[in-house]
Amino acid sequence: MSVTARAAPNIALIKYWGNRNNDWRLPMADSLSVTLDRPTVEITIDHAKAMTLQSFDATGKEKMLKPKDIQRFATHLALTKEYLAKLGIAEALPDAASIIIHSAIPSSIGLASSAAVFGCIAKAYAGLISGARMLTDKEISVIARLGSGSAARSIFGGFVALREGENDAIDASFAEQIAPASHWNLHDIVIVPSHDEKKVGSTEGHAGAHTSPMYAARIHDIRSRREQACIDAVLAKDFKKLMEVSEEDCWDMHEVIGTQKPPIEYVNNETHRIVQGVIDMREADGTEALYTMDAGPTVHVLCTDNAHDKILAYAKEQEKKGCTVYETKIGGPAVLL
Ligand code: PMV
Repeated sequence: MSVTARAAPNIALIKYWGNRNNDWRLPMADSLSVTLDRPTVEITIDHAKAMTLQSFDATGKEKMLKPKDIQRFATHLALTKEYLAKLGIAEALPDAASIIIHSAIPSSIGLASSAAVFGCIAKAYAGLISGARMLTDKEISVIARLGSGSAARSIFGGFVALREGENDAIDASFAEQIAPASHWNLHDIVIVPSHDEKKVGSTEGHAGAHTSPMYAARIHDIRSRREQACIDAVLAKDFKKLMEVSEEDCWDMHEVIGTQKPPIEYVNNETHRIVQGVIDMREADGTEALYTMDAGPTVHVLCTDNAHDKILAYAKEQEKKGCTVYETKIGGPAVLL
């Protein structure tokens, strides 16, 4: 019988960048994100004799998939079985599956579509094998992580940490919730400067992280203070502190990315222009808004209820300049439908 799950992207405030094991996506350091309420992905999976993959966009149009896309799902299924073998239930999952993706997320624009997709498929796999064993959310986050590190965080709603973990086992690193969505009513107004596909995917980018001369200091800072400072700011609902630590981490990651070999440039002039507008509003009247960018030029403006209308009006102005705007809030966990 087929199983359908739904999941949403997340936006990182402390960024995951670089692995200690690329095959298993064991991250070098902890990260922290908020799960968004939209746009969502729905995935239906079923047993199959051979792997099949179909993907449809928001309008129902089928997307052309490259062999490497299909390979990524096949590899993820094999890794999932490797992990389930450790739990003694590898046989519960078939060797091949039919996977049908309905995604409202434009791919490769820094809106974490892989986080939603692999979070969703992990939840669906858990549903498919629930007769053999009900997996915990922590275990499901391990399965998500094997497809995309940040996907582990989309298993939970609200404010979520991805823990680097303490050993080098396949399940060493997992996600856990820091606070539910109801803890703090923040908005993420997403401003997408262009729909140009980014040239270097994050999987490739992670592999080069260690070649940046700034990488060791980054990892040290996250481990020694930055992750905890961000968690403290969330728990205390201290917006100013959250802004300081998350913007510091965002630029730190983009400096690592720009100094690794070969260097990658994800942010562009439009990104800088949009960010400057946010800074100007903040300096003028203390608007409670912070900005952050993942592996693309997209600017996420997180703001409080008080700042919402002002930030939305600013985003609408950007729409007139060719940007696309998504209005999101903090959302719930991945679910089975
Ligand atoms: O999950 P991946 O492999 O797509 O990596 C995501 C990396 C960033 O989005 C840049 C940061 C993060 O923590 O989400």
